[in-house]
Amino acid sequence: MMTDAPHKMTARDVSVFYGEKQAVKNVSIDIDMDRVTAFIGPSGCGKSTFLRTLNRMNDTIGNARVEGQITLDGEDIYSSGMDVVQLRARVGMVFQKPNPFPKSIFENVAYGPRIHGLANSKADLEEIVARSLRRAGLWEEVKDRLNDSGTALSGGQQQRLCIARAIAVDPEVILMDEPASALDPIATAKIEELIHELRGRYAIVIVTHNMQQAARVSQRTAFFHLGNLVEYGDTDNIFTAPREERTKDYITGRYG
Ligand SMILES: Nc1ncnc2c1ncn2[C@@H]1O[C@H](COP(=O)(O)OP(=O)(O)OP(=O)(O)O)[C@@H](O)[C@H]1O
Ligand SMILES: [Mg+2]
Repeated sequence: MMTDAPHKMTARDVSVFYGEKQAVKNVSIDIDMDRVTAFIGPSGCGKSTFLRTLNRMNDTIGNARVEGQITLDGEDIYSSGMDVVQLRARVGMVFQKPNPFPKSIFENVAYGPRIHGLANSKADLEEIVARSLRRAGLWEEVKDRLNDSGTALSGGQQQRLCIARAIAVDPEVILMDEPASALDPIATAKIEELIHELRGRYAIVIVTHNMQQAARVSQRTAFFHLGNLVEYGDTDNIFTAPREERTKDYITGRYG
């Protein structure tokens, strides 16, 4: 019998409440290093809410309450000993709307490594910035204008800058919440290519409304509906032979 590699992250019976209202219901899922996991499902089904439990971003939402257990390398991320700032460096996040700081391109990427003390010298920091921009597929476009403002870039470039910013602190997991939904098709294709290239180096979770995108970029797909994780499996199977009627209805466009 083959033994499974340990999961990068696990969620067990995770529920999220906003006040009295339950937005996520007893979700259990494993996130693995070598594959991209896509979260799909109709608007309001809890994809973003669940995604945010994976790096405790819901902590910043006043009335949100999380139940259940989530581990990163076997360690409970909701334990009292967990350093949340450190956690969010290890489990980085990229949002739907690119949100560079109103600072230079260089500073956008250098900020994290600096506050986390990852660079020993100026040259070291420059090297981290260059490497992160290269990995994010942005270096060639910005190497001669590192002092320009990050907000002066195009939307697609801004999103790759945000990915570079996440990469710069050496994350293990990258969470992306509809990272391409505000971008045109060419910028979207670049983000999808980038996800391919980053796969293996980081565990990647992507929320998307675009079913073709989920099929293109992910190896595992999780279908959410009304706060429930209805079905989770290999992307090929989910799209060609879903087990659940609700999954089938959604991927064939019957609702959503
Ligand atoms: N800050 C909040 N306070 C109260 N309710 C919220 C909050 N954020 C989300 N909700 C509710 O929780 C449920 C799940 O929302 P969530 O944003 O996670 O859905 P989603 O699947 O990401 O939707 P979309 O595809 O539209 O982004 C919805 O009913 C939503 O209205
Ligand atoms: Mg959402």
